[in-house]
Amino acid sequence: MLTDKRNRPLRDLRISVTDQCNLRCRYCMPKEIFDDHFPFLGQDQLLTFDEIVKIVHACRTTADLKKLRITGGEPLLRKNLTQLIERLRTETSIDDIAMTTNGILLPKKAHALKEAGLSRVSVSLDSLDDSRFQAITGRTLKVAHVLNGINAAREAGLPVKLNMVVKKGMNEEDILPMVERFKGTGIIVRFIEYMDVGNANGWKLDHVLSKAEIVDKIHNVYPLEEAPANSTGETASRFRFRDGSGEIGVISSVSDAFCASCNRARLTADGQFITCLFASKGHDLKELLRNGSESIEDAVAKIWTGRQDQYSEDRLEHTASRKKVEMHRVGG
Ligand code: GTP
Ligand code: 5AD
Ligand code: SF4
Ligand code: SF4
Repeated sequence: MLTDKRNRPLRDLRISVTDQCNLRCRYCMPKEIFDDHFPFLGQDQLLTFDEIVKIVHACRTTADLKKLRITGGEPLLRKNLTQLIERLRTETSIDDIAMTTNGILLPKKAHALKEAGLSRVSVSLDSLDDSRFQAITGRTLKVAHVLNGINAAREAGLPVKLNMVVKKGMNEEDILPMVERFKGTGIIVRFIEYMDVGNANGWKLDHVLSKAEIVDKIHNVYPLEEAPANSTGETASRFRFRDGSGEIGVISSVSDAFCASCNRARLTADGQFITCLFASKGHDLKELLRNGSESIEDAVAKIWTGRQDQYSEDRLEHTASRKKVEMHRVGG
């Protein structure tokens, strides 16, 4: 079995299909930097669906790949995305095909995505308050647009998780309303520690509300108990409500890193294969596919075998000094 230097398998491939987004979240693509003139990738720079399917095949042949996740930017901005989902479903025999989206376009697309074979969605939503939502997302869309997207996904039969990035001074007051709104609905809210991804968000450790602080805040009102992980390498620590009304998750990359079991690789929309969310650069599989002589299988095996990434475990030694890939290119 293919494993890296820390004996971690490759189980999960996160495929970014576009670097563009219809929102400008402050912690990801602050609009002062990512304005309309920002040099996003051109159509000719994107991997074609044929190329994406080839790379997934190669990873599947080389490793025990179990899960695909379609990301962006905002993945629903990629033209004909349902065709890609359908091809991944029928041509790669991977059962778990998830998507991370801001949900705005789900009312139009959820049904077709489900039909094409998408398994589930994670929708990003950081506040239920319109003015804070707009301040965070840098646009004039409203919370109702995301809630409509969530409903559309549920009606189409797609299980939904919610991702809420928590940043001190940005949205701590939204933690309990979010719990109250979704408790008992079957939708799992995951609270995400604010991370130092990319180079544009001015991250400081002081801005991070830790897993312990988040759990305390909720537990004081709605008692929680720890729940076991669903699978090795899962990003979220799970907590169940003691009253039986469901669960929440907390993703604690800063206060309690989970690199030891990290089985994720990332593919950018232009074909860079990236072995850590915080990498400085990737390995150019598009160039290899179009002009190279080595097989993708051999390249992936070589890259993964040499992998030593554990950025979150070493974070405080590196941060600020290292240039990182931007979040809108690497898809979270
Ligand atoms: P599930 O398959 O439902 O568990 O989803 P997921 O948590 O793997 O993916 P999702 O896109 O919903 O990511 C949730 C949060 O976890 C986002 O903020 C991601 O950036 C973050 N995340 C995902 N994978 C990693 C990782 O390998 N390292 C770190 N530090 N953060 C990650
Ligand atoms: N810290 C934590 N999570 C982030 N995301 C984007 N930027 C950050 C950050 N700096 C989240 C998004 C989305 C997922 C892909 O990553 O909100 O849910
Ligand atoms: Fe877009 Fe997601 Fe980044 Fe927000 S976090 S700007 S929705 S890619
Ligand atoms: Fe994996 Fe890198 Fe995240 Fe650690 S920081 S869990 S190695 S992607």
